[in-house]
Amino acid sequence: MSGQILLLSGPNLDLLGQRSPEIYGTATLADHVRAFEAVVATHGYTVHAVQSNSEAVLIETLHAARTSAVAIAFNPGALTHGSWALRDALEIFTGPKIEIHLSNPAAREPFRHLSTVAGAVSGSIAGFGGLSYVLAAQAIVALLNA
Ligand code: DQA
Repeated sequence: MSGQILLLSGPNLDLLGQRSPEIYGTATLADHVRAFEAVVATHGYTVHAVQSNSEAVLIETLHAARTSAVAIAFNPGALTHGSWALRDALEIFTGPKIEIHLSNPAAREPFRHLSTVAGAVSGSIAGFGGLSYVLAAQAIVALLNA
């Protein structure tokens, strides 16, 4: 199989490695992208990794994915808990879509318990630290090859 998978990261994830390491670990976003890429590459897929702190850029990137990507893996950061626009943008993409979180938002502060995007994705993987990215890559490949 072949095709490009969009690995999209939202606000503040550019600071992984420095940001609250007791919650998010010491690995950087580049480390997670590499781990994700290593899994999908063995199945013939490429990765287009984009991180933005801007909701508008994230929405535009999701729109562009309609013609460039076969699947989307997305960690929306804190926008998970409040962006209905991101949910709408995800709904437009018809291929497999996975929501990723390093931490388990359901076990954290109440404001993190709502995910606006959860209803617009194929499934969510949360709470496994860096392993969340590896599991998401495996899940995307399984959905693409199903
Ligand atoms: C996060 C969880 C969010 O609640 C938080 O705002 C983040 C990171 C995670 O990967 O665990 O920025 O998406």
